[in-house]
Amino acid sequence: MDKPMTQDPLVLFMPSGKRGRFPRGTAIIDAARELGVYVESVCGGRGICGRCQCEVQTGQFAKHGITSKAENISPLGAKEIRYAEKRELKEGRRLSCSAYIEGDLVIDIPQDLQINAQIVRKADDGRIIERNTAVHLCYVEIDEPDMHKPLGDFDRLKAALEKDWGLTGLTVDFAILPTIQKVLRQGEWKATVAVHRDEEEGRARIIAVYPGFKNEAYGIACDIGSTTIALHLVSLLSGSTIASSGTPNPQIRFGEDLMSRVSYVMMNPDGRGALTDAVRKALDELIGQVCAEAGIDRRDILDLVFVGNPIMHHLFLGIDPTELGGAPFALAVSGPVNANAAEMGLDVNPGARLYMLPCIAGHVGADAAAVTLCEGPHRQDSQMLVVDVGTNAEIVLGNRDRVVSASSPTGPAFEGAEISCGQRAAPGAIERVRIDPETLEPRVRVIGCDKWSNEEGFSEGVARTGVTGVCGSAIIEVVAEMYLSGIISEDGVVDGSLAARSNRIVQEGRTFSYLLWRGEPELVIKQTDVRAVQLAKAALYAGIRLLMDKKGLAAVDSISFAGAFGTFIDPKYAMVLGLIPDCDLSKVKAVGNAAGYGAKMALLNRGYRREIEETVRRVEKIETALEPDFQRHFVNAMALPNKADAFPNLAKEVRLPARKAAETGDGSEGGRRRRRSRG
Ligand code: FES
Repeated sequence: MDKPMTQDPLVLFMPSGKRGRFPRGTAIIDAARELGVYVESVCGGRGICGRCQCEVQTGQFAKHGITSKAENISPLGAKEIRYAEKRELKEGRRLSCSAYIEGDLVIDIPQDLQINAQIVRKADDGRIIERNTAVHLCYVEIDEPDMHKPLGDFDRLKAALEKDWGLTGLTVDFAILPTIQKVLRQGEWKATVAVHRDEEEGRARIIAVYPGFKNEAYGIACDIGSTTIALHLVSLLSGSTIASSGTPNPQIRFGEDLMSRVSYVMMNPDGRGALTDAVRKALDELIGQVCAEAGIDRRDILDLVFVGNPIMHHLFLGIDPTELGGAPFALAVSGPVNANAAEMGLDVNPGARLYMLPCIAGHVGADAAAVTLCEGPHRQDSQMLVVDVGTNAEIVLGNRDRVVSASSPTGPAFEGAEISCGQRAAPGAIERVRIDPETLEPRVRVIGCDKWSNEEGFSEGVARTGVTGVCGSAIIEVVAEMYLSGIISEDGVVDGSLAARSNRIVQEGRTFSYLLWRGEPELVIKQTDVRAVQLAKAALYAGIRLLMDKKGLAAVDSISFAGAFGTFIDPKYAMVLGLIPDCDLSKVKAVGNAAGYGAKMALLNRGYRREIEETVRRVEKIETALEPDFQRHFVNAMALPNKADAFPNLAKEVRLPARKAAETGDGSEGGRRRRRSRG
């Protein structure tokens, strides 16, 4: 005979790791909710939506003291059998609303549950965002009208929401009321209500009512960059990215960089309106594009999250950015913005809500907040540096105790502008450069061709595009390689004496240049180009050093490069150049469009909205222009990699040229030897 059990069964939920004891017969969904584990449900436990699926993990989980067995959950019930017949319930999957605890269990709640798998076009990048969306679909069955109980249709709908979903004090957008009677009759007194619950006032709001049962809802996560807009269509019920698209920001025609767009607003009476209309129109078109690609109706988009730098943020919201053009760089609003999406001219569901992440400071926007949310310096024990390189680099540094941030005016050099042969990253642009330190001959790789220029097949590979310019990542590499091969000194001066041994070194007036590419066009790295890169990298590095000073740090533990530029940059060359401080190279990573990912996190889990709002309130903002040490750090950072700071981690990987004895005092510089590169 079995030993009588004295304790209730122990249930552990994965991936959250939350656990608790529950009486036998408790529905899995109820146990999950009691522990605060998010389980989706549209049908309210009727066994028809399939959104609440879970999986029993069997075996011994010694660490947790649980032996989880298949027989510790109730056998398949009638609702599950019916669901499996009508839809599909994969082997091992259960409906947590219809499965009950019979003994100790380890339960996995899949985070990317596909119900309509056929419409998923683009896989996520592997990271799973635990969901707790602001918008929920709630299916209800409403009492039919009764002459003896003259309660209005909408009031009976509210009563059903209270009874089945415990939703009280609901508000409703007035625009929905005139549609209610028709919708309820169309659905034969069954309806799916989209409820939005997020804003500070805490009251839930009915934002849409659909006839009958509806089992999908979508959201948009978007990074409005000053150069590129990147937008993702996301299923609010599965967390999957359904489609993604991007477009150049059409505001470019009003000004290439941010300040010229602010000037346009200041100089033209309708300037603000024109810039706002341009970006909203582009966003609306992108939304149309992703919906068409995924075959979904725009009206099914119910929640939208946008991020952008302060000027993009203001212009999208229709706010004049003039104040951001000069000190004290006052934001019209720094906190999060909640609004109706249709008010921004977006053709989505008329009740759809819009959320914008808070801005950190007048130069450090909601995009930097999103990058911070994604990378999470505020969640680390170690010191994490996050850099988003653009025309204005946004820098965040810190750990769970203290986070500081600043921006540095790097200018457009890293985007290929200001460089005589620079261009945007596009087919035909040189993206990788290596220079032989003996012969000073370069070899390059070009976007659109996977061969190096000294490999067979290169000429054919670039036949269509030609070799047209040098993009941002290659500008970093070419200047770093010029330094490693001795073509430029640590002060960035092209060594004219090398013209005697290489015809790549060319005199131009009083200075010398390096001929990177012979062809049409000829690509030459001029002395002024090296200077432009030095100025940009010195501005960035000085900003980073100021933040390190504020935190009393001599080094950082890890570095995340956000943004398109960061994706292609080789961390080793960024360090050779002295763009970033010394760090273990294995701890330096490119994190791609972290701003877009942060927006997606805020879209899928409103807990992340609270987290970033709280973090931004705590972040200390440093205005670099006002800091007396900025100039000193800037001057030191003009040298390669730096006049004052050592790079011991880098020196382990790359042989750096020796410094001049006069400047270092001893001429030895530890492991630094002359002229050999490569790691
Ligand atoms: Fe809908 Fe379980 S909640 S099937």
